[in-house]
Amino acid sequence: QRDYLIAPSILSADFARLGEEVENVLKAGADVIHFDVMDNHYVPNLTFGSMICKALRDYGVEAPIDVHLMVSPVDSMIEQFLEAGASIITFHPEATNHIDRSLQMIKDGGAECGLVLNPATPLHYLDYVMDKVDQILLMSVNPGFGGQSFIDGTLDKIKQVRELIDASGRDIRLEVDGGVKASNIRAIAEAGADMFVAGSAIFNQPDYKQAIDAMRQELSL
Ligand code: DX5
Ligand code: ZN
Repeated sequence: QRDYLIAPSILSADFARLGEEVENVLKAGADVIHFDVMDNHYVPNLTFGSMICKALRDYGVEAPIDVHLMVSPVDSMIEQFLEAGASIITFHPEATNHIDRSLQMIKDGGAECGLVLNPATPLHYLDYVMDKVDQILLMSVNPGFGGQSFIDGTLDKIKQVRELIDASGRDIRLEVDGGVKASNIRAIAEAGADMFVAGSAIFNQPDYKQAIDAMRQELSL
């Protein structure tokens, strides 16, 4: 039984009360806060920069902040989010010219690093980074928006990446992001994931603890 991590994505939170929302979802049992950083260049949407990460740290948020960079280029954002207190930084390999150097920048900055693979991005991007990444994030929707439906074909990809991680002998987290709900989280875990991003499935619910407990209930079966 792996340690399963629930990572609510603040993309679906009430941004007018973001500090309270993050506090409430942590009180409700969330393990990690997932930050969806979008630049309206790499993805067709725009969210927020590192000042939001710094604001939440200054507000007193101590939980791990898992920064998902949907930006291009990535390096300047890596530097800013390291400065702002990010715990984990992942980026899309297509968004940088130097994958290894961008990963090394994150590690040198004291955060955990990883790559994010879109639904049609091949696993070959993992060929030379399995000794470096701390986390692999598989997108189960096309990035840019919350509230989309889980792409079922992702389950097979999760199984393949789980095999790669087990073969690497390293303790790399397998995070899945997009359309994760209480109704599909068990299948996603059975396929090999151990970290689950959920935006709308949590923040669109009236009771965050009930929503997270329902997910944990499915994971414990
Ligand atoms: C999409 C983001 C996801 C998204 C998840 O580009 O990377 O993290 O916010 O939202 P839900 O859980 O609503 O699909
Ligand atoms: Zn995300």
